Amino acid sequence: MSKLPTTASAPFAGKVAIVTGSESGIGRETARALCRQGAAVVLNGRCPERLEHTRQALAQAGLRVAACVADVTDYADCERLVAAAITAFGQLDILVTNASISQRAYFADMQPEVFRRVLDSNVYGAVFPLKAALPYLCQSRGSVTFISSISALNGMPSGSAYCAGKAAVANLCHTLRLELADTGVHFGVVHIGFTQNDPEKRVLDAAGQPVPIAHRPPRWQKSQAEVAAIILRHIRRRRQRTVISALGQIIVLVHTYLPRLGDWIVLTTIRRLRHFYE
Ligand SMILES: NC(=O)c1ccc[n+]([C@@H]2O[C@H](COP(=O)([O-])OP(=O)(O)OC[C@H]3O[C@@H](n4cnc5c(N)ncnc54)[C@H](OP(=O)(O)O)[C@@H]3O)[C@@H](O)[C@H]2O)c1
Repeated sequence: MSKLPTTASAPFAGKVAIVTGSESGIGRETARALCRQGAAVVLNGRCPERLEHTRQALAQAGLRVAACVADVTDYADCERLVAAAITAFGQLDILVTNASISQRAYFADMQPEVFRRVLDSNVYGAVFPLKAALPYLCQSRGSVTFISSISALNGMPSGSAYCAGKAAVANLCHTLRLELADTGVHFGVVHIGFTQNDPEKRVLDAAGQPVPIAHRPPRWQKSQAEVAAIILRHIRRRRQRTVISALGQIIVLVHTYLPRLGDWIVLTTIRRLRHFYE
């Protein structure tokens, strides 16, 4: 195990962060990495047992964590989440809006309510925590990172509401950076590519039932710890946009300069690799 940096020399020493959706997956590893680099972190999720399990695991490793059960699509819950950070640690410097629900469902089959749930979790699940946290982030001239996806950069069959939500937060990030430029708050977006998932991860099918995520070849996936390290570098450097993975960079180039080629690649590969998109 690598040595924890001493508190004073750690890059995030003295900082307080909220990472939404951090009871599992990339959020948990981002919270762990922030703590290991000196921050105190408020963990969040909707399931009390899973959240407490993660809190205990991090606390037992000597990390400074608190936890708050809150549904980030509910504004009153987000006010409680921010209050929990202030009560536990007295300030707020970093917000990572990571909580999200994804889907495995074609638009034509989707119940309208399922579309709304996926979109809400990705849009209001970022907007509401930020709205509640903004006064404190302005005080600390802090940092906001919206976790988006490479699927915000180009449409992806079977991901309509998820892609739309991830694209919305990328645009929101840009708008807020302009609108709130005088506050000194950093607004950045990280477009994550294929990443290893917790075995328990579930996404919604067309009827809103939780189903396992589509299988992706492991060699295409980054580890959650690698992704967390990139997110931390993004926050430290106060970057406007980070696109993770070579595939992500290629998507940006093709979508910008050769959009018809991008469509051709998707339409051709979906016939042969349907399971990959679903
Ligand atoms: N894994 C990938 O390959 C990949 C690729 C691109 C982008 N991303 C993005 O990276 C982020 C993390 O993904 P992940 O793979 O780590 O997903 P994950 O394992 O499913 O984690 C998502 C977390 O968000 C929580 N959550 C969901 N809705 C919530 C809500 N309304 N309020 C509070 N918490 C909520 C979940 O807990 P509960 O459901 O128990 O509340 C869970 O802890 C997401 O924004 C995702 O879109 C991931």
